[in-house]
Amino acid sequence: MVAAIFPAAGSSKRMGGGVNKNLLELAGEPILLRTLKTFSRVARVKFLIAVVAAHEVETVEKILREADGLKPWRVTVGGSERQYSIANGLKLLPEDAEIILVHDAARPLISTRTIDEVIDAAEKFGGAIAAVPAKDTIKLVDAAGFVRYTPPRAELIAVQTPQGFRREILLRAYERAAEEKFLGTDDASLVERIGGRIKVVTSSYSNIKITTPEDINVAETFLRVEHGQAT
Ligand code: CTP
Ligand code: MG
Repeated sequence: MVAAIFPAAGSSKRMGGGVNKNLLELAGEPILLRTLKTFSRVARVKFLIAVVAAHEVETVEKILREADGLKPWRVTVGGSERQYSIANGLKLLPEDAEIILVHDAARPLISTRTIDEVIDAAEKFGGAIAAVPAKDTIKLVDAAGFVRYTPPRAELIAVQTPQGFRREILLRAYERAAEEKFLGTDDASLVERIGGRIKVVTSSYSNIKITTPEDINVAETFLRVEHGQAT
């Protein structure tokens, strides 16, 4: 079976306002709840683990308890870095979870189709990530702000979540990262370090991460378009 971990314990600095952006409402529903509901519609996903700041555990448990349509869930406390939050979530994995998905709670527009494709690829290859082709030209720069090199855009992807892995691979990658004090910016980078193969699953440009205030409007526009209400 598949279990999914949702890091939602960040400080939402770029959103501002001093509140957890994952609890802001998008089309009348907290972002975290919308994300968990979408994963709950995927048949193979059987268990959800939300990771939040210590002072928000009760609030989030109340939101989830009162919601309909959720698979079995647990809430746990996060850490100072996203990677530490996920490491805490890993401690709550059910024994029979063979595939682990990690998904930013702040990506509420994820489609069930991408989730299914990431699960398929993780089962087949051991690791898989959702991503889209890079739209912008990306350059490597030096510390003084000069361009060093321009990698060909056709070889570049912008990486999203979900990222999915066979259980033993992800657990080994997290153990090794802890031993070596390696801090990565995504989960796949921890698996890459131990030689794991990662398959890229082409996702959608609408799977944005709610990061700054205008992203709420962008996400609501995507939702209206999806429901055929665009004007
Ligand atoms: N996250 C987490 N624990 C942390 C940091 C981040 O669980 N210590 C979560 C966030 O809550 C978010 C996801 O990881 O759902 C992606 O992180 P990001 O978008 O950077 O969120 P924040 O770190 O909260 O935002 P900012 O960087 O603007 O402070
Ligand atoms: Mg952050």
